[in-house]
Amino acid sequence: MSDTIRCIGVLTGGGDCPGLNAVIRAVVKTASNEYGWEVLGIEDGFEGLIKPDKVRLLDITDVRGLLPRGGTMLGSTNRANPFHYEVSHNGAVKVFDVSETVLHRAREYGIEVLIVIGGDGTMRIAQEFVQKGLLVVGVPKTIDNDLYGTEVTVGFDTAVTTAMEALDKLHTTAESHHRVLVIELMGRHAGWIALAAGVAGGADVILLPKIPYDLDVVADKIRQRNDSGAKFSLVVVAEGSVPHGGEAVYQAERDLGGVSRLGGIGEMVAAQLRGICHADVRTTVLGHLQRGGSPSAFDRLLATRFGAMAVHLIAQGKVGHMVALHQGHIAAIPMSDAVSRQKQVPLDSDLVRAALGLNICLGNRRQAIVAE
Ligand code: F6P
Repeated sequence: MSDTIRCIGVLTGGGDCPGLNAVIRAVVKTASNEYGWEVLGIEDGFEGLIKPDKVRLLDITDVRGLLPRGGTMLGSTNRANPFHYEVSHNGAVKVFDVSETVLHRAREYGIEVLIVIGGDGTMRIAQEFVQKGLLVVGVPKTIDNDLYGTEVTVGFDTAVTTAMEALDKLHTTAESHHRVLVIELMGRHAGWIALAAGVAGGADVILLPKIPYDLDVVADKIRQRNDSGAKFSLVVVAEGSVPHGGEAVYQAERDLGGVSRLGGIGEMVAAQLRGICHADVRTTVLGHLQRGGSPSAFDRLLATRFGAMAVHLIAQGKVGHMVALHQGHIAAIPMSDAVSRQKQVPLDSDLVRAALGLNICLGNRRQAIVAE
């Protein structure tokens, strides 16, 4: 296929994360250096193929100095699904299917294959376009790490590092003031950031969506620490955590684009703990800090390997696939597999076992979490 291609497109969709620019840089450099293809950068995800004048040629000079930069030079949105495109007019929201516009514009620009850098929402849209005949290769990114088929997504490692550093800082103030500090972390309904950062940052309690929490178990843990002389505790709460028999907490049930925004569970847990433990309990919501900053070395390498491989896949004619990390190697999986389910934290993983072995409270009794 490499001989027939002249022009490919690249876009970033969904929430931004560290490492997106490193993927774009790898795509542009590999396409240009190895194959002599032109690369068109599409702004603001699929929105760039819905609205006019949002596509530009990217050459090597455009990606100079891009490797350490957070965010995405192309812009992104998690509110523009061409199959369900919301337009508000005089206060009323109307929904349109503008997918034909996207296909038409892609053809007009001469884009032969589109590289879509995104999380599960963007990958699902990409898969719908695959079914409509668009040639697409996917690159998985999201701080949430919840995209199925790849062991790690671009952005996760940096987000975990950011959260771990926040925990390190909270640790010293919690200890100085004998407080219980609750920190709410992003990660939607999977909780990968909370688990990894919680373990790396020495949390005493980690609440995950997969393990509905029992507040009495959490309060017992805090009391035990008090009794043993540790007069402070760090409680990590994944934003998608749920109380036993309860539901997730949302800031907004339905944002523009039909997206529900999680948030508020940290303060809810803190308020309940205040009542039970009679301790000085405070909440930190780390929020979008987890999406910013310069990518870690791991993310730069992953992004570079993914970006380069995405271009090689096109050359091999292996479209309709998403690049993925599998046992340390870069592989390709059918896009339809990638969107078939969400990648949840496996409760039988060694990390969960390690957390339990370290006596980290995961919000419920051990026997309710793992089968012995
Ligand atoms: O998917 C990435 C993510 O940061 C989630 O962890 C979080 O729930 C969501 O995006 C927040 O999205 P927004 O910035 O659109 O509110």
